[in-house]
Amino acid sequence: ISRMQLSIALLLSLFSALSALRVLQVSDFHLDVDYNRKGDPQKMCHISAASRAARLDEVSDLGSYGDYMCDSPESLVTFAVGEAVRVSNSDGKLDLVLWTGDNTPHIDGYDENYVVNGIKKTTSIIKGAFPNTPVLPTFGNHDYSPANAFDANVTLYERAFELWSDVIVGTDNEALFKRGGFYYYDFKGARILVLNTNLYYNVNDAYKDFVNPTDPAGQFEFMETTLDSAAKCTDNTKCFTTVHIVTHIAPGAFERTPNFTWYRPEYNKRFLDITKKCASNIGWMIFGHHHTDTFHVVRDDLGAAVQTLLMAPSVTPWFSSLPGAGSNNPAFRLFDTYDDERHAYKEITTYAIDLSRLNAGKQPEFAALYAYTLEYQMAGLTPKDFDNLITRMRADDNLFYKYIANNAVLVDLNMPVEPYRSAQFCSMEHADFDNYYDCMKSSFAPYSILPTVILIVSRIFL
Ligand SMILES: *[C@@H]1O[C@H](CO)[C@@H](O)[C@H](O)[C@H]1NC(C)=O
Ligand SMILES: *[C@@H]1O[C@H](CO)[C@@H](O)[C@H](O)[C@H]1NC(C)=O
Repeated sequence: ISRMQLSIALLLSLFSALSALRVLQVSDFHLDVDYNRKGDPQKMCHISAASRAARLDEVSDLGSYGDYMCDSPESLVTFAVGEAVRVSNSDGKLDLVLWTGDNTPHIDGYDENYVVNGIKKTTSIIKGAFPNTPVLPTFGNHDYSPANAFDANVTLYERAFELWSDVIVGTDNEALFKRGGFYYYDFKGARILVLNTNLYYNVNDAYKDFVNPTDPAGQFEFMETTLDSAAKCTDNTKCFTTVHIVTHIAPGAFERTPNFTWYRPEYNKRFLDITKKCASNIGWMIFGHHHTDTFHVVRDDLGAAVQTLLMAPSVTPWFSSLPGAGSNNPAFRLFDTYDDERHAYKEITTYAIDLSRLNAGKQPEFAALYAYTLEYQMAGLTPKDFDNLITRMRADDNLFYKYIANNAVLVDLNMPVEPYRSAQFCSMEHADFDNYYDCMKSSFAPYSILPTVILIVSRIFL
């Protein structure tokens, strides 16, 4: 074949392949290589080699797949990934893996080599399990030394590039990644932006060093430029009309802790302004970080739902001490899409395993926990359908309870009372901070103690 035929074939494969997709999302491994069955659950079950030797006579009484107080042992990560292969790809028809960050455990006192070694390990586990499927990695806020200190032009980006360069194709992409830890990936007629929103985290220590605090590493400009060209594209066989967004931390509030938010306010606003302006060209908006299963609706200025931000639960069961938070069962998620230009969601299914039953040898496999449209009787999975789901949950405690059970993957089965109940609803209803706080104000809050308490707990949030 001539070079011309070849490039036409290449173009066609990039743009015209409208097919239904199957996409896997795995998130928040928080692999702790020093998890030990002789560990202390109050200390993350984490033992260094030296103290392990000193505890030879102790009984190994923790689970071999981990503990609800602790981050993932390697056995859990390997098992979860193997199960993800079985569930999503035993017929070899999985199209894509989204891996939404946080490989490092919630510990202190490690260096960059520790982070890179952890990422190396998780990279080889996941890539080894999916040799023929593109795997798109993202940084989580813990994938840095010390945690939460992401800046522009750091050595970690150079070192991670060596591990992930198979999906960061092109010199422009390499430059973006080495500058800000973000990149794009062109896939089946759409462009996927894999962002580094750890730059926007309100506890990110590098903020004081930002060269350009209004747009760290130029990531917002990159988002806007990409989305503006998508808006100008009129022929999907020649350019991209759809842009998907995949990243670790989402804008909006944590649904389990009242008045607890992630981004600095100015970044939250900018991210949502871009989302609102470009909503009709954005396909998926997919995140991790919460460890729990929830979503936020993004509204235009008239209040209409124009986008949905979807958070998938984590593989790590780790207990978060944030008020109202806690542990969860290990989980991963599968998206099935329509064969349209937007790759619109057809179904979203979350798979999970009961960690204590796994440890006890009573549940050998991950099983489907629920599928969105069936579980919540949704007509579809558009932003309006999600908005409608919130309205129905507000009016129907049985429906809301299904969501609550899924929220921490069946670990916390208590119906939340105020102000935690409102925190759930307001977080789903409003990713915008002003509207979120207004919503919280109008909720019944007997006393307002939380903000001060939260500020003094440890810096290990999520
Ligand atoms: C990062 O490095 C590049 C190349 O040296 C430089 O042009 C750019 O200004 C730096 N960006 C930031 C935000 O420090
Ligand atoms: C949350 O913030 C709102 C708005 O500032 C306030 O009215 C409410 O009392 C707060 N709730 C809690 C539980 O702190």
